[in-house]
Amino acid sequence: MKEFARGARNTEGMSEKSQFGFGLIGAGNIGKLHAQVIGELENAQLAAVCALPFEAAEAFAKEHGGCACRSVEELVSRPDVDVVTIGTPSGLHPAQAIAAARAGKHVLVEKPLAISLEGADAAISAAEEAGVKLGVISQRRFDHVCQAMKQAALAGEFGKLVFVNGSVLYYREPAYYSASDWRGTWKMDGGGALMNQGIHTVDLVRWLGGPVRSVAGFSRTISHSIEVEDAASAVVEFESGALGSIKSTTSAYPGLHIRVEIMGDRGSAILQDSDFVLWKTANSDAPPGLSGPKTGSGSSDPMAFSAAGHLAQFRDFLSAIREDRPPMVDGAEGRRTLELVLAVYESSRRGEVVTLPL
Ligand SMILES: NC(=O)c1ccc[n+]([C@@H]2O[C@H](COP(=O)([O-])OP(=O)(O)OC[C@H]3O[C@@H](n4cnc5c(N)ncnc54)[C@H](O)[C@@H]3O)[C@@H](O)[C@H]2O)c1
Repeated sequence: MKEFARGARNTEGMSEKSQFGFGLIGAGNIGKLHAQVIGELENAQLAAVCALPFEAAEAFAKEHGGCACRSVEELVSRPDVDVVTIGTPSGLHPAQAIAAARAGKHVLVEKPLAISLEGADAAISAAEEAGVKLGVISQRRFDHVCQAMKQAALAGEFGKLVFVNGSVLYYREPAYYSASDWRGTWKMDGGGALMNQGIHTVDLVRWLGGPVRSVAGFSRTISHSIEVEDAASAVVEFESGALGSIKSTTSAYPGLHIRVEIMGDRGSAILQDSDFVLWKTANSDAPPGLSGPKTGSGSSDPMAFSAAGHLAQFRDFLSAIREDRPPMVDGAEGRRTLELVLAVYESSRRGEVVTLPL
């Protein structure tokens, strides 16, 4: 067990803290990964966990450490909890983030920040009012290959951007949805292949391509018996004038790949899963020396998560608290990506091009 430094427990003393106590809300697939990451951080300790039913939280605490809590309120009011991570069904994220922020805890929310812009705004306001940090998980941004693309785009290595495309071609068995009481529902998943699986890649497309001006989207339920879409496709127009496309599905048997493509008048790069299949610019035939984590998030296996991206993002979040700066992916960034997902749905519903902001 790591030594747990006593002392500053409120946000004022946070910058001097050497150890951070984490409270986990949600102990499912991603909750387990959060516990693993906290175990790997040199300056963090799992203090408490909350999940349903309480017995599940107890079993989780027995395996991973920390105390089991009977409610979110109990967890966020614990003095040994400095940072709350939220890994519950997506529809619950804003209310739980607000509860944590109002209790004076920093909050790291799994994607999506919320399933509506109202929910996202409420979480952002609560964090601002409480003076706590709000981060939204988007671990692929921390992947060294994605960082290489971003740095090259910022340096103008690709020239004037023409296309930024992202596709997520997954396959999910029917049981993936039927075995869960929240996946595939509007109320708790907030959408399907795009909101749940595709959002990481939507985030990369927007991060690389810059602000989006308009979206022409289609979303359909083609092969699963679910309320939400299992296939979505969209053309986006960036404010820069560049164009792009987004595709996400959970119906592409046997599960293909994730691809991110950036093309400009001085260079292009194509990332498939975690490797470049093309990098060619006027100045280089290969990406610059790569270092840093490889998240491996391209896997089509729904339960195959690599901890590397989360670990890097958790580290950035704790540094943001110490340095009193925004985390790399803050609430506003999480909201922008959510807005783009919602714009695809809105365009599909209306059958017309949608202009941002929504
Ligand atoms: N970043 C990623 O790559 C990634 C991967 C998987 C999931 N996620 C996100 O994580 C979230 C959870 O996904 P999952 O696959 O772990 O789901 P899951 O169903 O495996 O786990 C959900 C957990 O939330 C708990 N829970 C449900 N209602 C609760 C409540 N009212 N109070 C406290 N706990 C409650 C459940 O008991 C369970 O422990 C989703 O928002 C999902 O989008 C992100």
